[in-house]
Amino acid sequence: MGFYPAPPDAVAHAATFLKPPQGGFFCLLDPCCGEGAALQQLTETLDVAVDHVYGIELDPERAATSQSLLPDSHILGPASALGVACTRRTFSLAWVNPPFDDQMGGGDRVELQFLGQAIDWLAPGGVICVISESTSTHWTFRQLFIQWFEKISIEPFPEHYRPYKEVIVFGRRLERPRSPWSLNWNHELQPPHVYDIPPGRKPTRFIKVELTETELREALRVSPLQRHLQPHAGSQLVEPPLSLGKGHIALLLASGHLDGIVHPVGEPPHVVRGTAKKTQYVAGVEQSDNADGSVTTKTCLSEKITLTVRTVGVDGRIKTFEGE
Ligand SMILES: C[S@@+](CC[C@H](N)C(=O)[O-])C[C@H]1O[C@@H](n2cnc3c(N)ncnc32)[C@H](O)[C@@H]1O
Repeated sequence: MGFYPAPPDAVAHAATFLKPPQGGFFCLLDPCCGEGAALQQLTETLDVAVDHVYGIELDPERAATSQSLLPDSHILGPASALGVACTRRTFSLAWVNPPFDDQMGGGDRVELQFLGQAIDWLAPGGVICVISESTSTHWTFRQLFIQWFEKISIEPFPEHYRPYKEVIVFGRRLERPRSPWSLNWNHELQPPHVYDIPPGRKPTRFIKVELTETELREALRVSPLQRHLQPHAGSQLVEPPLSLGKGHIALLLASGHLDGIVHPVGEPPHVVRGTAKKTQYVAGVEQSDNADGSVTTKTCLSEKITLTVRTVGVDGRIKTFEGE
């Protein structure tokens, strides 16, 4: 959860390239606002109405600090920017200073996920300021950026605050994406200039819809469904008070209860399996003479249960006991 707050000088420098609309409100978003210092500085410098300020932060303490810095703003936390549902095409300005990292499980960079999310929530004509390591302005980042933004410019952080040679990448969001294949990053770059922030509306939806990883782990720990993952206590077989008679054993075999290993004392063990099936038999035949001289034969069929018991001993020989 790399916390590298943008230094106030860098935020102040970025703000010199941003011009708020003359009259009319606009909404400002920081999807990973940390302790909210950059958000507060931009709010004050650009004169944003505090209830038009939105932030998301994964770390609970940092989220609480942000909320206390900007009490009337809308801070979601602890929440992941990737687990928030928000009205699309809504914000006029997005300040995106994401953690620089590889995506969990491989694939792309985390910065790209944040950029993708910000694109979705930014209004067409809205302005984005992305903090990026100048060395890590990867091909994939550039492809996504030129697809969605025009009037792109890059401004380095003030010289004395550049531990990772950070830059601020500015752009104005297009109505719809254009094919990046015919575009060239260097041709798209413009000299630094002032961006007019368009007026905008508040999102009608800005809510956390997913648990953070920490919350998920805790929810799993206390979930009542955990009991399904516990091994069952083995059921104890009880010894009958009297030894079984033949009839009892037959019933147990017929009902499939006498299955498995049988190991009488002093005898080799064997496995027994009983199956019961219905078989048809002729219960009786009746013949009667009719008036016209013909004969009617009535055959009465009935069914009986036939029990088959098979055993297999340690020598592998299978014995079948059936019928008589
Ligand atoms: C580089 S700091 C930026 C702080 C602030 N925006 C600024 O510019 O000074 C990145 C912040 O992103 C937070 N973060 C990391 N993953 C996040 C996520 N999935 N959703 C929201 N915030 C996240 C970190 O906790 C950290 O506070």
